[in-house]
Amino acid sequence: MRCADALLEVRGLTKRFGGLTAVAGLDFALHEGEILGLIGPNGAGKSTTFDLVAGSRRADAGEIRLAGEPIGGLAPHEIARRGVMRTFQHNRPFPGMTVVDNVMVGAHARFRCGLWSIVGGLPHARDEERAMRRRAEEIVEFVGLGDRRAADVATLSFGQGRLLEIARALAGEPRLVMLDEPAAGLAPAELERLAAILVRIAARGIAVLLIEHDMHFLLPLAERVVVLNFGAKIAEGTADEIRGHPAVIDAYLGDPTALVERAH
Ligand SMILES: Nc1ncnc2c1ncn2[C@@H]1O[C@H](COP(=O)(O)OP(=O)(O)OP(=O)(O)O)[C@@H](O)[C@H]1O
Ligand SMILES: [Mg+2]
Repeated sequence: MRCADALLEVRGLTKRFGGLTAVAGLDFALHEGEILGLIGPNGAGKSTTFDLVAGSRRADAGEIRLAGEPIGGLAPHEIARRGVMRTFQHNRPFPGMTVVDNVMVGAHARFRCGLWSIVGGLPHARDEERAMRRRAEEIVEFVGLGDRRAADVATLSFGQGRLLEIARALAGEPRLVMLDEPAAGLAPAELERLAAILVRIAARGIAVLLIEHDMHFLLPLAERVVVLNFGAKIAEGTADEIRGHPAVIDAYLGDPTALVERAH
């Protein structure tokens, strides 16, 4: 489903770290149900862009709107409550907990008030907890970790850990999910599974902002791609437009496959 108005609109977004401009006047928009790729060489400002949209860092300039409402400057939990969820470049599970419990913690990121009433053991809270557990189990199933639902997170493979990160982000019932290199380090079969999951997420109307170095993975998935270099947007377009774009080829030293080798 595509609405005329953008779900996420970023205008003139700028972030400096001392003398370094990590994000430089960035503009882009993202619609419901769209997969937008965000690419660029190491240090181009991709993860910092996520930090700014999610509110974990404050922009020095620019506007961020979600469904037309400004969200720049709001606290991270407030932005999460409005339906913006993200994953990180490295897995960050809560140790000593099962897969399903990790996903439930992900849900609390959005539905914060629930946590304390559950701890208090009030009857309605127990119902709420049961509903949240059912929902968490559904999400775990959705990402293909159903048979590991009761496993301690320490026993997950690296690839399963990546899927758990996505499950935790989905538990917050996002309108927009931002995934920071979800495919990095995955085996070919895991990549295929991940691609199918991302397509299904978008088909539910969720907007997906995807940082990815592996062009073989990204280009078939993303409807549009935004290319950053030194914090600035140097190109934007469909996969075909990006592949042949002179500035993009330049940024990757004439070899677009260098992106794959840069993956970490
Ligand atoms: N906390 C910080 N303090 C100072 N500089 C930072 C900080 N975080 C990021 N940077 C710098 O900002 C620039 C953008 O970093 P960012 O992590 O956003 O890049 P990236 O595109 O995600 O790169 P990668 O592909 O390696 O993950 C880099 O030059 C980085 O060194
Ligand atoms: Mg990064």
